[in-house]
Amino acid sequence: MGKGFFISKAVGIAAIIVGAGALATIIALSVVYSQEKAKNNDNVLPTDGGTTSKPPVTTTAPSNEPWDKYRLPKSLVPDHYNVTLWPRLKQNLTTGLFIFTGQSTVEFVCAEETDLILIHSNKLNYTKRENNHLASLTSLGGVKAPSIKSSWLQQVTQYLVLQLDGKLMKDHRYHLHTDFTGELADDLGGFYRSEYMEDGVKKVVATTQMQPTDARKAFPCFDEPAMKAIFHITLIHDLGTVALSNGEEKESSNVNIEGHDVQKTVFQPTEKMSTYLLAFIVSDFSFINNTIDGVLIRIFARTPAIAAGQGDYALNKTGPILKFFEKYYNSSYPLPKSDQIALPDFNAGAMENWGLITYRETALLYDETFSSNSNKQRIATIIAHELAHMWFGNLVTLRWWNDLWLNEGFASYVEYLGAHEAEPEWNVKDLIVLSDVHRVFAVDALASSHPLSSKEEDIQKPAQISELFDAISYSKGASVLRMLSDFLTEKVFTMGLRTYLAEFAFGNAGYTDLWSHLQMAVDATGTDIPETVSNIMNTWVLQMGFPVVTVNTSTGIISQKHFLLDPDSEVTTPSIYNYEWIVPIKWMKTETIQHPKWLKNESVTIDEMKVSGSDWVLANINVVGYYRVNYDQGNWERLLGVLSTNHVAIPVINRAQLVDDAFNLARAKIISTVLALRTTKYLNKEREYMPWESAVGNLDFFYLMFDRSEVYGPMQDYLRNQVTPLFTHYKSLTDNWKNVPVGHMDQYNQVNAISLACRTGLRECQNLTNQWFNQWMETKLNPIHPNLRSTVYCNAIAAGGAKEWEFAWSQFKNASIAIEADKLRYALACTKQPWLLNRYLEYTLDPNMIRKQDATSTIVYIANNVIGQSLAWDFVRARWSYIFTQYGGGSFSFSNLVNGVTERFSTEYELQQLKQFKEDNAEVGFGSGTLAVDQSIERTIANIKWIAENKQNVLDWFKAEEKP
Ligand SMILES: *[C@@H]1O[C@H](CO)[C@@H](O)[C@H](O)[C@H]1NC(C)=O
Ligand SMILES: *[C@@H]1O[C@H](CO)[C@@H](O)[C@H](O)[C@H]1NC(C)=O
Ligand SMILES: *[C@@H]1O[C@H](CO)[C@@H](O)[C@H](O)[C@H]1NC(C)=O
Ligand SMILES: *[C@@H]1O[C@H](CO)[C@@H](O)[C@H](O)[C@H]1NC(C)=O
Ligand SMILES: [Zn+2]
Repeated sequence: MGKGFFISKAVGIAAIIVGAGALATIIALSVVYSQEKAKNNDNVLPTDGGTTSKPPVTTTAPSNEPWDKYRLPKSLVPDHYNVTLWPRLKQNLTTGLFIFTGQSTVEFVCAEETDLILIHSNKLNYTKRENNHLASLTSLGGVKAPSIKSSWLQQVTQYLVLQLDGKLMKDHRYHLHTDFTGELADDLGGFYRSEYMEDGVKKVVATTQMQPTDARKAFPCFDEPAMKAIFHITLIHDLGTVALSNGEEKESSNVNIEGHDVQKTVFQPTEKMSTYLLAFIVSDFSFINNTIDGVLIRIFARTPAIAAGQGDYALNKTGPILKFFEKYYNSSYPLPKSDQIALPDFNAGAMENWGLITYRETALLYDETFSSNSNKQRIATIIAHELAHMWFGNLVTLRWWNDLWLNEGFASYVEYLGAHEAEPEWNVKDLIVLSDVHRVFAVDALASSHPLSSKEEDIQKPAQISELFDAISYSKGASVLRMLSDFLTEKVFTMGLRTYLAEFAFGNAGYTDLWSHLQMAVDATGTDIPETVSNIMNTWVLQMGFPVVTVNTSTGIISQKHFLLDPDSEVTTPSIYNYEWIVPIKWMKTETIQHPKWLKNESVTIDEMKVSGSDWVLANINVVGYYRVNYDQGNWERLLGVLSTNHVAIPVINRAQLVDDAFNLARAKIISTVLALRTTKYLNKEREYMPWESAVGNLDFFYLMFDRSEVYGPMQDYLRNQVTPLFTHYKSLTDNWKNVPVGHMDQYNQVNAISLACRTGLRECQNLTNQWFNQWMETKLNPIHPNLRSTVYCNAIAAGGAKEWEFAWSQFKNASIAIEADKLRYALACTKQPWLLNRYLEYTLDPNMIRKQDATSTIVYIANNVIGQSLAWDFVRARWSYIFTQYGGGSFSFSNLVNGVTERFSTEYELQQLKQFKEDNAEVGFGSGTLAVDQSIERTIANIKWIAENKQNVLDWFKAEEKP
């Protein structure tokens, strides 16, 4: 899956709170949690839809029957399936349901004699067949199949169970036939429906999301990734609609079934593949197409979106990205076609179904008038991510979900390589440091983090599988693979990757298989590494966290230590590596890159790192290593000196690193907060995006802690002074704001310049944003460039009153593209008028005003506003039981909500309120927010402590900086 938790820059400004630790993980998991909640609540269905025989024993205690285990036995192996599905896009007015019907025949081989058939099935009702059983069985090759003794549905483990009165014989083939009905619900899982309005008419799309364990909601199947098979799919659909699946359309004809004139589309059989990569879609969408070296490329979306050219960007970029990966993997695209479709309702960012990739609209559709450059970057990288999976993940699939991190980490790494190919001018590869490495550092620095790799036996239930889709799997996976590719060199890395793909094509593998192939490449090329690939990587994969490497330039001693954001936290999980890593150290000495070194033990002495005079050492060049760096005070001083006199002597990524490392080392009490603040002093000369972004992210924590205290004024004065030159720079670069900066990073940094200048009260900035907004209100023509809209809207609404707010609200209600509506919804939370904020809070619980899926984030946006903070907290406290009962099962994310509204908490009084809140609502409960309540209490305590220790120093420092 693509990153479901991707926070787009346009709307994420208020949501990105660097250093707030667990928040990133919580956002990451919210998608998964809401899916899980939906599943759990539906489990109260009657035990089955047509049992004829009861299971022999019905015990409540855990039993050890095969059907009580979550993993399939190894006795049966599917060969191919013939599946026909007929989704009904009209509601049955008698039952109130949207349904689909289906028939399936699966041919399987018996690998071990057995008298039991277990096949996954969830929420399907079966039509009884011979002798009143839920399925029928035939055998091939002349022998007679045993007859079915009893059949039932095992709800908890999601099986259709068939007990036979004789044994299936080893190496014999059998056919299992079923007829079934399922609900085409709007639950975003399995075969589901998505609704949207077009020209005032409500339309319905039938679509799928199988990963990880929902193919079994569409038809009975051996729903494990290693149970690969070939699928012959047929879809029955209304005349005039388009049916799509993984294979190419083979034939389509009009037929009459049960008195209905319908269309029947038969697809070419798929390649041998896993069930989680299947897709079936019926819609009346349009498409645009292209052919590249015989591969058909199509982009599907709502007809008006295609007509407006919103699919063009994706179509133009898909070919080059596909070609890039063919070269990178040295393997031609394995399928004859590549379809990509934008869906109005989609939970994750995108899903790599083989040959039919599904996306959220905002992850595929680009519109010059409404999309910012960050929206555009998101599209290019998500396409690259999904196309990368066509080989890594789809052609070669991990054997079991415990290795998910390798699949997602790999795609999250090479998405940058693919996007770079599509947009070579962007330098997008550098951004992995901000978006993945720094971001996941925040989560992986907690004592409650977890290792990349999980044990197979620990990952059994669907909920345990879903939990793996988190920031650790995606971003840490990407970070350590980037480090590996770097120390092996890209040549050796791709050499091993290619033989790995060739050996396991159409099959399954584990992460150690990749290590073996990389080792072969290392051996073949004589690459110099201090230990085997496996020994090095195990230290990064099998234990959680990462080290802080300390370089002492006066002694030359380099040492490592597990980095914990809260030094008082206790690590209760032991590690066989004792929290030591094998660390590759790329470094430079005073402007010259040196030969890389390795740190294999707790410490080592490297004489070349002992420097004196004005020489300085900088370690972890371009942050290719997954670790933070600390120095002796003398070297810190010299680095600060270089920043202030000649900052370009330090590579731009490392300027971002120095800021981020310093602030985090200060949070962990390894260096002083004042030293961290001093890394921002040179910013008045900095024009590059990455260091600014790093600083802005880290200073957000200071805003949260101090925007209600006397530190606020001096801090604002200091930051305004720092950002004014950047603001002026952009003013002249854009010829008084008339042009758009050419560079991608410059466009990003222009947003930082305006946001921070306005936030710190620079008059000229405020006048500028007000003037643009007024012009829009008066002329009804929006003069604001899409890159700047979020921040300009926010600042103008903050400066304005009811008139500005009402105007933005009406634009929000009338927005025809999700990208624009999201920017407005964020900006509406920026007003300083308490009554407007209170009314906006009320709107969040009215689905006619704010869509349910957006309620949580809107409340959190309001809480992020210093004026809105206490209003949002009062609102949530007062309505808790209402919110909980109304939204308990749906898309409402309680953990995001609790964490979001308590983010700023840093006083004893707030701590008492929070504890009271926990007590008062103990009866009602907190659902998925339970952990978040405790985390918030813990965070508030930590904040109180941090403020007590730092406030005076920070205040003194800002005051001293004000004076010339
Ligand atoms: C609606 O469902 C009922 C009950 O299952 C069924 O008898 C009826 O034929 C269905 N109506 C349509 C239009 O399919
Ligand atoms: C599935 O359909 C294919 C093509 O029509 C046919 O050759 C095959 O025998 C069928 N298999 C089963 C299990 O029905
Ligand atoms: C399946 O059967 C159950 C129990 O009879 C019923 O409540 C449910 O609506 C049925 N689902 C469909 C899709 O027909
Ligand atoms: C695009 O699709 C149309 C209609 O299916 C077809 O006629 C045309 O040849 C296709 N173009 C390319 C470049 O594949
Ligand atoms: Zn993915």
